[in-house]
Amino acid sequence: MSGAFTKSMARNIFYGGTVFFFLLFLALSFDTHQALPKRDHRAEITPQVVHGKKLVEVNNCIGCHTLMGEGAYFAPELGNAITRLGGREGIKGFIKSRPVEGIPGRRSMPQFNFSDDDLEAIAAYLEHINKIDDANWPPNIQG
Ligand code: HEC
Repeated sequence: MSGAFTKSMARNIFYGGTVFFFLLFLALSFDTHQALPKRDHRAEITPQVVHGKKLVEVNNCIGCHTLMGEGAYFAPELGNAITRLGGREGIKGFIKSRPVEGIPGRRSMPQFNFSDDDLEAIAAYLEHINKIDDANWPPNIQG
């Protein structure tokens, strides 16, 4: 092709590119909305799970822990804690039994004095989080 790059060529590239990427954007948005419900099990988000999430947020659990990889590296990953501790009872028992004075000589988890309902809600939330398809993060049981 010889000659200059004309105004109409530039215009065609602009309009063509705009239409192409807008259609691509629509297709990918549609695909995301199709895929998400299967990955995040949102139908199972009960009021109890919502309450548990709220408790995890207001008590800043990820100030020490990671949750699906996000947060601080002071304490174990919480995304799969339910598997590591063997279910809801394990989670509740662990959180409930933290000594107020901490454990000398090692990192320790604070005593939050949660009610039984709150503990159940946190366990329900951690159980829900564990089911989310997050590309198999964390890669092993230790988190
Ligand atoms: C001040 C830091 C800190 C905060 C805040 C904190 N934790 Fe922890 N947590 C720890 C440490 C440290 C451990 C590991 C303790 C141990 O192994 O003795 C731990 C352990 C745990 C475990 C057991 C994990 C395992 O695999 O052994 C669970 C479950 C847990 N925390 C839940 C929570 C929840 C829920 C919150 C918020 C309500 C929270 N933690 C807030 C420091 C913290």
